[in-house]
Amino acid sequence: MKAVISIDQGTTSTRVVVMTEDGRVAASAQREHRQFFPQPGWVEHDPLEIWENTRELSGLALTRARMRPADVAGVGITNQRETTVLWDAVTGRPVHRAIVWQDARADDLMDRLRSDGHEDAVRARTGLPLASYFSAGKISWMLENVPEARELARTGRLRAGTMDSWLLWNLTGGTDGGIHATDVTNASRTLLMDLETLDWDDGLARLFGIDPDLAAGMLPRIHPSVGEFGTIKGAEPLSGLPVCGILGDQQAATFGQAAFNPGDVKNTYGTGCFLLQNIGTTPETSSHGLVTTVAFQVEDGPAYYALEGSVAVAGSLVQWLRDNLGIIRASEEVEALAGSVADNGGVYFVPAFSGLYAPYWRPDARGLIAGLTGFATAGHLARAALEATAYQSRDVLEAVVADAGQRPEELRVDGGMTVNDELMQFQADILGLPVVRPELVETTAVGAAHAAGLASGVWRDLDEVAGLWREGRRWEPEMSSRERDRLLGRWEQAIQRSLGWAEQ
Ligand code: G3P
Repeated sequence: MKAVISIDQGTTSTRVVVMTEDGRVAASAQREHRQFFPQPGWVEHDPLEIWENTRELSGLALTRARMRPADVAGVGITNQRETTVLWDAVTGRPVHRAIVWQDARADDLMDRLRSDGHEDAVRARTGLPLASYFSAGKISWMLENVPEARELARTGRLRAGTMDSWLLWNLTGGTDGGIHATDVTNASRTLLMDLETLDWDDGLARLFGIDPDLAAGMLPRIHPSVGEFGTIKGAEPLSGLPVCGILGDQQAATFGQAAFNPGDVKNTYGTGCFLLQNIGTTPETSSHGLVTTVAFQVEDGPAYYALEGSVAVAGSLVQWLRDNLGIIRASEEVEALAGSVADNGGVYFVPAFSGLYAPYWRPDARGLIAGLTGFATAGHLARAALEATAYQSRDVLEAVVADAGQRPEELRVDGGMTVNDELMQFQADILGLPVVRPELVETTAVGAAHAAGLASGVWRDLDEVAGLWREGRRWEPEMSSRERDRLLGRWEQAIQRSLGWAEQ
């Protein structure tokens, strides 16, 4: 039986999954990497640590699956999006740590561009608002603040890319002829790609202080997500295998959820929460605070687009309860702690740690806990933290409904937090929609595996891939609309209070 390998390079960890042609996970291996917080609002990763982890985990997963490279048809990559690395093509060394998607150091630049009146034109071309979340501000900051980056750019030695490009270049030989490419989904998160032409745009590069002549050497070539990117070289035991699928992780989850048809919606609960609705082959823009992004493109086919509601803090709030408040020792304990109280006790938690993303896009928002009384316990805080994820997901789903003019029939969910049954019931209640979890909840890795398997002939077409999706569990809404409205009214008040806090 043929297999595919999926490399899932996420915000907190890297995981490699081996999937067989019957759609089963044969084995996996995972490792966390370090998070660096050099200043408030700044978040960095070590690209070399991530590359080493990727290499070692690939070998480990293959050994655990008791397979040889000859059993593998192809390799797919999926990655935390927007996180940006700049490196020297001659030495293979990054010129700075990777600047992570959550990093807000480019806020000032974005404020400046906004007050100079560029927002509407940028949104029309890229589908994105001017926000430090996306890659362009991170590249711009490095070019301005790292002299080596400027010098290497001038001499044509600098390479810029998101994590997929960094891994692809290293996997395909690195300093010995590594391939510098990315896929349309990752490129659509940079603020540098035109959503219609699916190519880099000189005017956008200039706007972010990148000389278009130098950008041509620095930026990766943009490919469809499903198709051959290059052959692995010098990275045992994978050498000789083709890399034939790349998607940003939220688009990979959309692919893994088989959301191939216009109207299909999925929500992934990871470090953040990302809800995407397939809108077909025309890149409509949102009037309700969503971004337009590329969902996937199969080689020789059109690009499919999605409206996306990105929420910055979801699972990472549970880590914060563990690491900063110390009210749990391990993330898994949050479910029991939240379950130790009957309801939220009137406590609401708005986790606007780096402002609020969709649908508000307010960098000036800050986190708050509202409704505390002497009655509140750690259980209420844990519950309010979990409920915040459900409320934020509801806010973006309502934006999707407002844009589309109709409610979806159900919401397909995936990601680590969806193992929490009580949270999923609350999510169905607060949405007033059925919530459906597939058998395999790690749909990000599944999606990249499906993309690689489709390109390498393990599966014939999208219909066959869609046939691999299996329902695991379904939650029907049970809450009365009166109760739902009461809770949502309070949540909305809490959101209003968090806005503008950073400027007071
Ligand atoms: O846009 C950021 C997103 O791609 C990160 O996903 O799963 O690593 O939280 P995740």
